[in-house]
Amino acid sequence: MNILVTGGTGFIGSHTLVELYQAGHRAVVVDNLCNSSQQVLGRVERLLGLAEGEIPFYEVDICDEQGLERMLERHSVDACIHFAGLKAVGESVEKPWLYYSNNIGGTLTLLKVMERHGCKNMVFSSSATVYGEAAAMPLVEDCPKGQCTNPYGWTKSMIEQVLTDVQRADAEWNIVLLRYFNPVGAHPSGLIGENPRGVPNNLMPYITQVAAGQRRELCIFGSDYPTPDGTGVRDYIHVCDLALSHIAALGAVARRCGLEVYNIGTGKGYSVLEMVQTFERVNGVKVPYRIGERRAGDVAECWCDPSKARRELGWQAKLGLEDMVRDSWHWQQSCGMP
Ligand code: NAD
Ligand code: UFG
Repeated sequence: MNILVTGGTGFIGSHTLVELYQAGHRAVVVDNLCNSSQQVLGRVERLLGLAEGEIPFYEVDICDEQGLERMLERHSVDACIHFAGLKAVGESVEKPWLYYSNNIGGTLTLLKVMERHGCKNMVFSSSATVYGEAAAMPLVEDCPKGQCTNPYGWTKSMIEQVLTDVQRADAEWNIVLLRYFNPVGAHPSGLIGENPRGVPNNLMPYITQVAAGQRRELCIFGSDYPTPDGTGVRDYIHVCDLALSHIAALGAVARRCGLEVYNIGTGKGYSVLEMVQTFERVNGVKVPYRIGERRAGDVAECWCDPSKARRELGWQAKLGLEDMVRDSWHWQQSCGMP
């Protein structure tokens, strides 16, 4: 299939491009580069043994209807994997309009242009955040959605609703909502990974920067949660496993699935302290840390039952915590290389 990949130069998008081509698909990439660089495409092409510039790229904002229109006039696509969006939780609290406008407005424009070109197939990057503070773990897809604690989370929840209503109104649409848990790791080649701008918000890039001596210590946000060691528990998933879930989701779209929702995690929760200890043991480096206050908006635990994706998509995560911490560290050490 020929796949429109919005946000394709980003962290998850770039890893998914690799898996798309390896599975025999092709892609057209759209990204406004607000949180990534076009150099990533060259690295993806190198990794795949493609010629430079072989993956078509459009530096276009998904809010730009004319820009999307011009791109789809030149390329006939079978489906869209829609990654493009802003994702910094703290920034979304400061700039809610930007987040609603970019993420929701951009998605509405994208849907309009796709429909005009007869492409009614989409895989959307949603998030575990739509569950809010759930009563019990593990999370299953039919757990009720909850109250989000920030505008970023609400954009995901609202876009899910928009896509559900669009599909309900027109059964020609096939839409898969993938609720990602906590993506970490990087491609084992060391050529692509996550490149957070400024101080990282997320645990893994913070750990790798502390291990590399770029930051003094990790602050563990709270040790008094009702979890086995008191620190927060999350379902970390290797980005290469996550990327493969999109290939499986395209299979569902091709089978005309209507609207489906899947949890994309490993089904195992690990605490912050377990992450730090595993990172130190596997990579043989120290990660100095201190215990600080809880971070506002954090939940004690968040992990899923991913068995629906296994049953219906034939997808399951294969990589474990050791692969995640090893590949994250390898990327940290190689990301400055040309
Ligand atoms: P990322 O920031 O690395 O990638 C997103 C890409 O979208 C970037 O390259 C950015 O330049 C682009 N973009 C943003 N707004 C755009 C616009 N208006 N027009 C065109 N391009 C635009 O983030 P990621 O971690 O790869 O996340 C991909 C998707 O998955 C996002 O929608 C994110 O919200 C979602 N998600 C991520 C996580 C996570 O922890 N990384 C968890 C759950 C869901
Ligand atoms: N943590 C620390 N110190 C840090 C950073 C994080 O102790 O410096 C802890 C957090 O308190 C939490 C765990 O590490 O217990 C994971 O935190 P992350 O910020 O890495 O991830 P979150 O689970 O808070 O959020 C992530 C994404 C959100 C997404 C959510 C659910 O950042 O965008 O997963 O998918 F909505």
